[in-house]
Amino acid sequence: MTILVAGASGLVGSAFARAAARRGHRVVGITGKHNGPLEGISTRVPLDLTDEGATTSAVLEAFPEAIVNCAAVSVPEQCVADPARAQALNVTLPGLLGRLAHHVSGRVVHLSSEQVFDGERTTPYTSADAPCPINLYARQKLAGEQAVLTAAPEFATVLRLPLLMGNSPGGARSNHERLLADWAAGRTPRLFTDEFRQPCTADNVAEVVLEICERNDTRGLFHWAGTELLSRHEMGVRIRDHFKLTGKQAPLEAVRRSDNPEALRSRQACLALDCTPLAGRLKTRPQSFAAQLEELHVPVPVRAWYHGLGV
Ligand SMILES: NC(=O)c1ccc[n+]([C@@H]2O[C@H](COP(=O)([O-])OP(=O)(O)OC[C@H]3O[C@@H](n4cnc5c(N)ncnc54)[C@H](OP(=O)(O)O)[C@@H]3O)[C@@H](O)[C@H]2O)c1
Repeated sequence: MTILVAGASGLVGSAFARAAARRGHRVVGITGKHNGPLEGISTRVPLDLTDEGATTSAVLEAFPEAIVNCAAVSVPEQCVADPARAQALNVTLPGLLGRLAHHVSGRVVHLSSEQVFDGERTTPYTSADAPCPINLYARQKLAGEQAVLTAAPEFATVLRLPLLMGNSPGGARSNHERLLADWAAGRTPRLFTDEFRQPCTADNVAEVVLEICERNDTRGLFHWAGTELLSRHEMGVRIRDHFKLTGKQAPLEAVRRSDNPEALRSRQACLALDCTPLAGRLKTRPQSFAAQLEELHVPVPVRAWYHGLGV
């Protein structure tokens, strides 16, 4: 089938393009500023997704059977720095893609975030639980979900995701890539021992989204995540061990949320997701953290530093 991917140069979008191409689909990939190589894209369309006319033309030109929206301003600090741009990408765009999916009678899969919840409880959130966003990114992601589901109730699937691991096209986007960049630059990351997330990888998400596109029987709102709830600090230690780095080569400072009043105000303490019914329905399985670590590469920007250590 022809699948149009918005955000094909991002962490998830690039993984999805590779996975879809491997299974023989034709991928039309919309990219933004990234101009490096990308695998799996049959037709690459660089454009500004805040331009409604250009986005509409690209979708109508491709006339896809499925639209996968991986485009977003996905870093909460960047939403605060430029709220209007973030609103256009995180809220207006999903509504537009929903209307276009309806127009071409194709399905649309939109990616959202665990952050729609306030993180005040330790038990997993189900998709039936009431969201309660506590920062601008989270409010926008919730509004984006509502926009696409309202525009295309018969065609839309919204998938809420946890903190993502994986290898991004620029090598500077995901959890391990940022940690390694800090260590290469001589910085000591400060990681919370009491902030908990349930990560999975972008490649794992790509398989889930691909199954949703291919099955065509999964509409509405769903959760997906890994199998383990881990603190940010524990993830950092396990990433350091995976890359065989010592505490001297890769220092970490353990901090508590109470050390940081801004964290208490705008970051969720514990985001656990209940992945039923999707986890029982799909062939793709939720991953352990050990399995996620096996997928990680040393990113290009820090390769010289890393290999210079003689690890
Ligand atoms: N990363 C996480 O930990 C995480 C966790 C939960 C949910 N999510 C959600 O999952 C989805 C994918 O996240 P991600 O981490 O893969 O995002 P990402 O790596 O930040 O990628 C964002 C994508 O959006 C594109 N984009 C942004 N502004 C654009 C514009 N004006 N015009 C055209 N393209 C534009 C970027 O293109 P260029 O790079 O080419 O400019 C890139 O392809 C998002 O909806 C995010 O909210 C992510």
